[in-house]
Amino acid sequence: MPNHPITQSPNHRIAIIGGTGKEGNALAFRFARAGVRVLIGSRDAAKAQNAANEMNARLGAAALRVEGYSNRDAAAKANIVLLSVPYDGMKPILEDLRDAAQNKIVINIASSLDPERKSRAKPPAAGSVTAEVQQFFGDTAKVVAAFQNISPEKLEAVDEKIDSDVLVCGGDKAARETVIELIRRIGIDALDAGVLANAIAVEALTAVLIAVNIKYKVKGAGIRLTGVPRE
Ligand SMILES: NC(=O)c1ccc[n+]([C@@H]2O[C@H](COP(=O)([O-])OP(=O)(O)OC[C@H]3O[C@@H](n4cnc5c(N)ncnc54)[C@H](OP(=O)(O)O)[C@@H]3O)[C@@H](O)[C@H]2O)c1
Repeated sequence: MPNHPITQSPNHRIAIIGGTGKEGNALAFRFARAGVRVLIGSRDAAKAQNAANEMNARLGAAALRVEGYSNRDAAAKANIVLLSVPYDGMKPILEDLRDAAQNKIVINIASSLDPERKSRAKPPAAGSVTAEVQQFFGDTAKVVAAFQNISPEKLEAVDEKIDSDVLVCGGDKAARETVIELIRRIGIDALDAGVLANAIAVEALTAVLIAVNIKYKVKGAGIRLTGVPRE
């Protein structure tokens, strides 16, 4: 699937919270390269600015400028907020973003993993991390699960086709469709995988992929559904 800039679609501004880390940085680069306006967020605004400067140098002068802010400022300036922070550090980040996330699409990419052994699925009390984020922000935030099953190594290989699907779940159909469109624009197949209750399946699948990675000594096991028509 080709990368192409978003010229005909709305001008999305995506805040990558924790865009200084491996997964978030790789996603930020792919979105920016596809012409989406990207705001890198960090607990430390200067660190975000440095990450944005490095990314702008990689992207070249013709690309839209990536900007770096504190997590809260990045989220406030965006219409889509992607959480790319470890689950065990997420609570204070959610507190920080509570106001900024209202009436926005929020993408959770974290999985339900046992901290003692990440190859074992372990849902939180809410049923999934995505459901926990939805509960935390309340109904006006449109929270979706996406990207759980794609490794940063695959995201970083920007010139290679990613032979994996991203499954997108969440309670708001229009939000799922917006996120699917954005994912397809960065060269990855995305499928509507249904309602918020299904997020646990996608999150638990990450434990399966980690177990497979360990067993077969690989880094980027992924999933691809069969029997689905492709564009
Ligand atoms: N790695 C994978 O294979 C993979 C695949 C799919 C999804 N994911 C998900 O992607 C998310 C990010 O993964 P990653 O590997 O990029 O994580 P990471 O590098 O460990 O952390 C990402 C960023 O989160 C912030 N952070 C780190 N520890 C934190 C803490 N205790 N509390 C608050 N913020 C903290 C840091 O940003 P600042 O210091 O700049 O604030 C860091 O740069 C996770 O939810 C992970 O489950 C990962």
